[in-house]
Formats: sequence, C-alpha cells, structure tokens
Amino acid sequence: MGGRIVLGVSGGIAAYKAVELLRIFQRRGCELRVIMTRHATGFVNPRTFAVLSGHPVEVDQWDRPAEPGIDHVDLARWADLLLIAPATANILGKLASGIADDALSTYALAHRGTLVLAPAMNTFMWRKPAVQASLETLRERGATVVPPESGQLACRDEGEGRLAAPESIADAVLGLLPPRGPLAGLNILVTAGPTREPLDRVRFLSNRSSGRMGVALAQAAADLGARVTLLHGPLAVAPPAGVRCVAVETAAGMGEALDRLVPENDVAFLAAAVADFRPVERASGKLDRREGSFELELEPVPDLAAAVGNGPRRPYLVVFAAEAGPDRQRALAKMRAKGADAVVLNDISAEGIGMESAENEVTVLAAAGWERPIERAAKEIVAREILLAVSGEMLVAGAGR
Ligand SMILES: Cc1cc2nc3c(=O)[nH]c(=O)nc-3n(C[C@H](O)[C@H](O)[C@H](O)COP(=O)(O)O)c2cc1C
Repeated sequence: MGGRIVLGVSGGIAAYKAVELLRIFQRRGCELRVIMTRHATGFVNPRTFAVLSGHPVEVDQWDRPAEPGIDHVDLARWADLLLIAPATANILGKLASGIADDALSTYALAHRGTLVLAPAMNTFMWRKPAVQASLETLRERGATVVPPESGQLACRDEGEGRLAAPESIADAVLGLLPPRGPLAGLNILVTAGPTREPLDRVRFLSNRSSGRMGVALAQAAADLGARVTLLHGPLAVAPPAGVRCVAVETAAGMGEALDRLVPENDVAFLAAAVADFRPVERASGKLDRREGSFELELEPVPDLAAAVGNGPRRPYLVVFAAEAGPDRQRALAKMRAKGADAVVLNDISAEGIGMESAENEVTVLAAAGWERPIERAAKEIVAREILLAVSGEMLVAGAGR
C-alpha cells in the first residue's frame, strides 16, 4: 500500500498505543515521521518513536539548533496524511481554533493532505459540549474522526472514550491514502477460499481450501498500490487490511458476485476453490439418520472461471490449477478452456505446500508463451512474486480498458 504518514501523538494515557500503530503502518509499507506534544513525552519516551521510525521525533521546533532541517512546511510537502492518535481534548480544541503553539499544532496548520483524528479521553471529558463542538468543526472542515470505543478506561471509569483499536484506526487511514506503488491505478479482483454447498440446513459439502493464497494475493496487490476487491467464501484466515471484502457462501453466490464485480475490475485472479459438484436438492430441515441410507445426487457446478474468461468486458484473467503432479499440459489446457491469460500451477501432491499449508511453490504459465517458476516460500512471498510476474501484462491490459 505505502504512503507517507505524519503520526501526531498528544498527551493522553493511550499514547503507548501509538507505538503499535506505527508498527502496523510500517508492516503495510508506509513511511512515518512522528511529532509528539510535550505532554505525550510524559507517557512515551520520544526515543521509542525515533528508533522505530528511523527519524528524529519533533517535540518543540524551538529546541532544535539553529540550522536548516526539515521544518513543518517541508514536512507538509512530503506527507500524504496526518494522523493524530491519541488526540487529546486539548489538541482538538487547538486545531478547531487554529492555535499553533507547539510542533504538532503548528504542523497541523501547515499540513495540506488528509487529516485523521483518533480521540481518546475520559468519558466526562468526551461528553463535554466544548469537545464535541471542536470535533464537529473539524469534521465539517474535512477531518476524518475514528471515534473512541466504550469500555473500561485507564482512569477506571466505564464508558465511551477509549482509543479505537489500532487495527481499526489503521484500516481507516489506509483506506484514505492515495495509491502508490507499481500497481497504482489498477482495479484487481481476487477470489479466495472454498465454497459451501448445502445438503440440508446444517450440513454442507466443501473442501480443504483455507483461502490463504487468495488473501495473500489480495494483500500483496494492495501493498503494491492496486485497488483490490476480495471475493471470498468462508475463510480460515483473517481477511486482509485495506481491501474491500465481499463474502459469499455458495458457488451460486460467487457466480452472482462475479457478474457484478468483474465489469468493475481490470484484472481477476480466480484463486477460490469453488465446488465442482453440488447436491441437486437441498433438504429443507435436517437429514435424519433414523431414516437410513439415501442416495445423494450431485450435479456439476457451472464453470465460473470460463464464464469470466469468455464473457463480455473480459478482464486480464489469471486462474489457478491445483493438480496432483506438476502437469504443465493439463494446466495449459485449463488456461485455454477458461479463456485465461495466465495459469498458476501448484502441485497439491507435494508435501507441505498448497491447500491448508502456509507455504506454496508454483509455476506461472502465460498464454503469451512465457513461464516463471516461483520457488517454495511463504504464501505471502509467493503471492508477491506471482503479481510481479504478470505485472507488465496486467498494466498493459489495464491501460487498454
Ligand atoms: C495521567 C494523565 C492522563 C491523561 N490522559 C488524557 C487523555 O486520555 N485524554 C486527554 O484528552 N487528556 C488527558 N490528559 C490531560 C492532558 O495531558 C492535558 O490536557 C494536556 O494539556 C494535553 O496536552 P497536549 O494536547 O499538548 O498533549 C491526561 C493527563 C494526565 C496527567
């Protein structure tokens, strides 16, 4: 994803949570500079942020020796977004009134990009009309507010005022960053996970897909700057951050969602393990063992990938072939049958890779004739390599749409 963030930390007890936030943003490929208020340094030593961010932490512009350096105006040219977390009642009041009496409030006035505020304070402070009026003013001027949560506060009062979870703040911020990276400008759809085909109200037919490969692809594509939609069946892993997720259960549900989502995207990676067969009939209640054995009639599920590859407004299409053995001819035949531009072949008979595993080893075969083996590695790394292997073709296809 990437992006340049100024993280402002003001003097609330939740200042220590800003350390975790900084780490989350770094994992998402963002660059950070930190500005703390003098009071925030009473909770967290600026050295913590300096070491983790790899840059000096600004507390007071007037402390710096009189030499040219990055000042608030230069920093404003650099930054995409200012996040203040935690935001005290005091800094909210100052921002709403245009007061610039320390490094953070001065920077906030000079800042030109997006402003995100994550307030945290005691419930009674939070409810004060003055605090709410400051927030309202800032919202009206375009700031995004990530509201605090309810719960037990550090002061042992119970109620609203606790800083929102760092993951929620990070999601809000990442969604607001301008796209950066080699895939910026591309809309990529990724499918992941198994489908469930119901037998009765409680039972279903499914498969061992965890969704991990598709989730890793969606995350890697977002980290490389693409706008990503993840269409997924029931996942055994957490969905990625900064990605729009659409959840479905059955192959039919996935087919309907594809009809809707494919025209919006330049590229589709169909990594979901969609059922090949489904029960012809679904029992309305719960099948009863006492009724003895019965015959289960299955019908083939329509080929969703072929419908995408041979349909109108066809995206650049990558399909996945999980084969019992490194059968390149079978994979190529599958690619052609589905009208795809590339196929990712993985050998599900090999130990420790593929379905339910954390690792994978694949070969990307392209309709254009080239092939790229990707050696065994964590699925996150394999995902990035797959994307880079097809990035040139994806960008050309995206530009032509
Ligand atoms: C132990 C302690 C915890 C505090 N926690 C908060 C808080 O969570 N939220 C808040 O708005 N103010 C809190 N304050 C009050 C602020 O530190 C105070 O208003 C200060 O002037 C804020 O300055 P700053 O906004 O420049 O950091 C706390 C004060 C103390 C002593």
